[in-house]
Amino acid sequence: MYKTHGCGELRAEHVGEQVELAGWVNRRRDHGGLTFVDLRDRSGVVQTVSNPELSKEVHAIAEQVRSEWVVRIVGEVRARPKGMQNLNLPTGEVEVEIKELEVLNPAKTPPFTISEESEVDEMVRLKYRYLDLRRERMQRNLELRHNVIKFIRDELGARGFWEIETPILFKATPEGARDYLVPSRLYPGEAYALPQSPQQLKQLLMVAGTERYFQIARCFRDEDQRGDRQPEFTQLDIEMSFVERDDVMQLLEGVYSSLVEQLFPERPVFAKPWPRLTYQESMDRFGSDRPDLRFGLELKDISDLAAGSGFKVFEGAVDGGGEVRGINCEGCGHFSRREIDELTEIIKPFGAPGLAYLAMQESGEPRSSFAKFLPSDRLDAIIKRMKANPGDLLLFVAGKREIVLESLSRLRAHLGAHLELYDSDMLAFCWVLDFPLFHWDAEEERWDPSHHLFTAPMPEDLPLLDSDPGRARGQQYDVVLNGEETAGGSIRIHDRGLQEKIFDLMGLDPETAKHRFGHMLTAFEYGTPPHGGVASGLDRLCMILAKEPNIREVIAFPKTQAARDVMADAPSAIDPKQLEELHIRIVE
Ligand code: AMO
Repeated sequence: MYKTHGCGELRAEHVGEQVELAGWVNRRRDHGGLTFVDLRDRSGVVQTVSNPELSKEVHAIAEQVRSEWVVRIVGEVRARPKGMQNLNLPTGEVEVEIKELEVLNPAKTPPFTISEESEVDEMVRLKYRYLDLRRERMQRNLELRHNVIKFIRDELGARGFWEIETPILFKATPEGARDYLVPSRLYPGEAYALPQSPQQLKQLLMVAGTERYFQIARCFRDEDQRGDRQPEFTQLDIEMSFVERDDVMQLLEGVYSSLVEQLFPERPVFAKPWPRLTYQESMDRFGSDRPDLRFGLELKDISDLAAGSGFKVFEGAVDGGGEVRGINCEGCGHFSRREIDELTEIIKPFGAPGLAYLAMQESGEPRSSFAKFLPSDRLDAIIKRMKANPGDLLLFVAGKREIVLESLSRLRAHLGAHLELYDSDMLAFCWVLDFPLFHWDAEEERWDPSHHLFTAPMPEDLPLLDSDPGRARGQQYDVVLNGEETAGGSIRIHDRGLQEKIFDLMGLDPETAKHRFGHMLTAFEYGTPPHGGVASGLDRLCMILAKEPNIREVIAFPKTQAARDVMADAPSAIDPKQLEELHIRIVE
């Protein structure tokens, strides 16, 4: 070993000890004839000092070294003189007097400062990710992620789960995104698909009798990128046999609750046990199936009061089969016209034609874009429904239900963050249940599973599959944490007949179903236990635990929003010889 201690480990108790340290030069400064070299490794930073009177040769090297050079130091730990201590640094009571100094590797000046937290363009950070990862914030995130995954492994192991790896080269496992394909050299025109999740394999492991499976699984999805999505990401994937919906939910809630208790005891949890909302309730109250429970601003339906109110925009929406809903932004009655216009800009991209407002004044008439059109008893009824008081600001959207819900939920999220309505340490977990089993795809004229095609319907809704599939609910559950979907799962179909019926509703003819899922259907005929499971996005979980704004900050080598690796420059052009081996011709 090049070192006896980590730089960040040295404390007053080490005073007088001879130590060997190795790491990166965090900063070098010359002061009063001495040269100070702050040395950094994974454990932290310690001040080392070179005195020319001790050794001219060593001092000459110390004067030469620059930031990010890799050096090895042998020296003696001593107490810093009174008044020279740095209480902001864990090692701030001591320094190391350099006796030997060896340059292990010099370094070019990095494109950004490693030693200080500074705003750096993300493209530059990603291009030099190995330097970015040296920074304290990223080291903390890597360690946090390691701790989270280690905790999960230990906890699930203790609960009788086996960690089993499943193939990366597999067959299409649709989860609603496009597949990444790997063309086969041996079988011209054929390809493997990278798994969008290990869904089918974990179900087959249940047929195989493993009963309790988990995997820290890499998943690949070719879909539009957003801050909380990556083309390859990591799931905590779980599957259990002989369980009902509540069993899987309790398992995940138990594991995550003890994870927070043990690793993040300082973070308050919004409610224990986690609140459970039906999909319907979540949409009604928050306009979204990803409710952020950390703050109020709930949506209120005023469609009945808007109908026949005299205000054309409200009336038109309700007459056209739509809705009018609003939120009460308490204490924001002082918002200026310009501030309200800015809020309108936020919802416009989601199809909302405008934002109707009513600002309650401490005295006198409210300021409003629509109050003048309404009889006063209607206005009073709306104010009462919205539980509005003087000083509050009421914001309304009228139109098609989906547009009203989406735009108000976006507005709600914006206001919650902008007005700092929540404690940023808070962890608000909740369950969302009873999703519709299908959505109607008007373009393709077929039913699309809202989770995936292996999700079992609620037993009492089975008859609806024949009469009114759109009303059937699935035995599905999502975990939402601070407004992010951090897990989703379901009880599965374990009966071939029912599985075939779902394929039929999805418009999959028996031939195609057999070609794509024949292995599943066959397996289901050989004694399949009732089973269910869940998968949780570990990147998203770690992002929230690390209080980072996007998942790239908790992934060592992420792709950009445009799905590129800008460090290695991937994807990259394929060698013509490789193309030939793969039997592929590129058509321009
Ligand atoms: P689902 O598709 O809901 O379910 O995925 C489970 C969880 O994975 C995370 N996630 C992502 N994270 C980062 N980038 C992405 N592109 C991305 N896509 C999904 C989310 C999500 O809640 N096989 C089923 C699970 C099951 O039924 O057991 C599945 O994959 O946090």
